[in-house]
Amino acid sequence: MVKTSTTAGRILVTGGMGFIGSNFVRLLLAERPGWEMWNLDLLTYAANPENLADVAPAAEAAGRYRFVRGDVADPERMAELFRAARFDAVAHFAAESHVDRSIASAAPFVRTNVVGTQVLLDAAREAGVRRFVHVSTDEVYGDLEADEPAFTEATPIRPSSPYSASKAGSDHLALAYHRTHGMDVVVTRCSNNYGPYQFPEKLIPLMIVNALEGHPLPVYGRGENVRDWIHVEDHCRGVLAALEGGRGGEVYNFGGASERRNLEVVRRIARAVGASEELIRFVTDRPGHDRRYAIDFAKARAELGWTPSRTFDEGLEATVRWYLDNRGWWQRVRDGAYRTSAEMIASWGETGVEAAR
Ligand code: NAD
Ligand code: DAU
Repeated sequence: MVKTSTTAGRILVTGGMGFIGSNFVRLLLAERPGWEMWNLDLLTYAANPENLADVAPAAEAAGRYRFVRGDVADPERMAELFRAARFDAVAHFAAESHVDRSIASAAPFVRTNVVGTQVLLDAAREAGVRRFVHVSTDEVYGDLEADEPAFTEATPIRPSSPYSASKAGSDHLALAYHRTHGMDVVVTRCSNNYGPYQFPEKLIPLMIVNALEGHPLPVYGRGENVRDWIHVEDHCRGVLAALEGGRGGEVYNFGGASERRNLEVVRRIARAVGASEELIRFVTDRPGHDRRYAIDFAKARAELGWTPSRTFDEGLEATVRWYLDNRGWWQRVRDGAYRTSAEMIASWGETGVEAAR
């Protein structure tokens, strides 16, 4: 793998208080001791400062980590932050990420995912950031029939939901900044993640916590839709590999080689936590529901030396165990108490740019 000299130094991680972003921050803290990391996050409902509470204070004291509260769609704030901090690289995770919420209201998705990405690209370009990794999704490709080959990076973009349409818009912007402005941008597209610290609105954590509490397990339609599941740590290692070794202007797919029907996943979770399958309820289908995702990650394997390391069986078992061992984390999400730590962090996070001077 080619290591670029662009990636040592100071890196901005956006959305680092969310699910994948916080796992990425953990990975960098553990495996890139020479890097200084800034975590920029608006602290929306999806953010949870408790995701990093056990590692952030020591890293901050050591000068390796700092948090800045901010909105990626705020151009003045982003220009000021980038001028003050002189980042070497950006890993852009911040987004509105839940398909069902985008069906209820698309506006925050367009604002954060499309406008926010454009604002960040402008700020990064003006400040001379050397590498910009835009974290995207396989959902931009639309969906597949049962017998169709997996998505490659050459598959046409054909998004189905307001969420995936907004991510597709942001991908096009990122790649256009490479072509038009010569920016060193890499786009990654990954399949469905699961693992620790995932907000319990997404299928796997929702089913685990509902099953643990004896609540109904809502399966959309007949549960026939297929997703390709990847453990979040494998995704984070892919983003790191793209950051360090990807070629500017290129797209890299990441997947877990683990296609499963939703009903099978839900049944397995019920069994794993010792809940009855009678909790399963077939409910009204999601409008525009994508049938199947499958990912061809041959390019990432060939160019980045990346492959997923965990099987779905291992990863799901470890994830169920994590939710069993960390009841306090998800119970505070369920009862809303996690917002208290978000408010506390927000009150001092506002001073982040000033403090950087
Ligand atoms: P998440 O919803 O858990 O976290 C998103 C984070 O972004 C939150 O901390 C939130 O506060 C922050 N954020 C939202 N709007 C912001 C704004 N305007 N300014 C600054 N911060 C803001 O999302 P996730 O599941 O961790 O996904 C992270 C990224 O990975 C997204 O770009 C998503 O599209 C992509 N992705 C997710 C998956 C998946 O399965 N979850 C798969 C492939 C790609
Ligand atoms: O493929 C990558 C994408 O995966 C990411 O880009 C998105 O950010 C992420 O949210 C995820 O999108 P999905 O829509 O596939 O994930 P979700 O967990 O919402 O749903 C997974 C499948 O389970 C989907 O077919 C819908 C179904 N589902 C979901 C929920 C929340 C149910 O049947 N019942 C539910 O309650």
